[in-house]
Amino acid sequence: MEKTNKIVIVGAGNVGATTAYALLISGIASELVLYDINRQKAEGEIMDLAHGASFVPPTRLRAGYLADCREADIIIFTAGAAQQPGETRLDLVDKNTRIVEKALLPILEQAPEALVLMVTNPVDVLTYQAWKLSGLSPERVLGSGTVLDSARFRHVLGQHCGVDVRNVHGYILGEHGDSELAAWSSVHIGGIRLDDYCLACGQGCGQEKREEMFRQVRDAAYQIIQAKGATYYAVGLAVRRICEAILRDEHSILTVSSLMQGEYGLRDVCLSVPCVIGRQGRIKVLELNLTAEEKEKLQHSAAVIASYLPATDR
Ligand code: LAC
Repeated sequence: MEKTNKIVIVGAGNVGATTAYALLISGIASELVLYDINRQKAEGEIMDLAHGASFVPPTRLRAGYLADCREADIIIFTAGAAQQPGETRLDLVDKNTRIVEKALLPILEQAPEALVLMVTNPVDVLTYQAWKLSGLSPERVLGSGTVLDSARFRHVLGQHCGVDVRNVHGYILGEHGDSELAAWSSVHIGGIRLDDYCLACGQGCGQEKREEMFRQVRDAAYQIIQAKGATYYAVGLAVRRICEAILRDEHSILTVSSLMQGEYGLRDVCLSVPCVIGRQGRIKVLELNLTAEEKEKLQHSAAVIASYLPATDR
């Protein structure tokens, strides 16, 4: 029997609906279930998506009841409050922890073999909570983490250097949030280390320009939220990318959030570093050769995230 690629999206808000749209266009899921306590919203989103069916690869679509989550391959968790202007992602921790605690386990009971992909913010704290609640192995509980931030980083660098973003490789590490850091020492453009590329380029961008570009990346969500109220397109595309790497067993390298188990000297915290991603979830954590400054910033980011974990987990 052909392997199914069933994805359940929990939450039919902006991010959940946009993620469903991105997955529908990609055709990587054989079945998409949109699950929300507001059933009318889920039904409306599914109806709107289904009317585009003749334009995209075939995907079974459903506004799901709990039972419809049965045998999902991936559970994407997007339900929860979104950042409002002036709010940090970490400000959402109390209300969104309650939503995860209430909603995740009943769905997982329907799909005990599923991988969990957390998107709701603060995504690193909630990825840890989901791992603890689920009892699953750390490899099977991931967060979208800084996959989006790394994409923003590559975009800003590509724009600045005048190079196709697909030839720019660089990572944002740590929290998907204000304490994240750019791993400048591992940035490559067309296989050339950034420092060597800069010498050849001759624009003479110094530390100040790099700090300005990093701030553009780190603070992007605040700017977008101020302008249009929420972010959802790029994060939906990032989540689609992670699902693609999982369902196609690509062994792709993505900066998903997952439980550190000694890597980078870190334990008992979920944050983003480059990981090899395939059908089983996280296959391997890759340890970059970070500078002393980058290591210190990563430790700080881990401490910020850990300070928001329940007291019993610190
Ligand atoms: C952002 C949200 C997904 O960074 O946290 O756009």
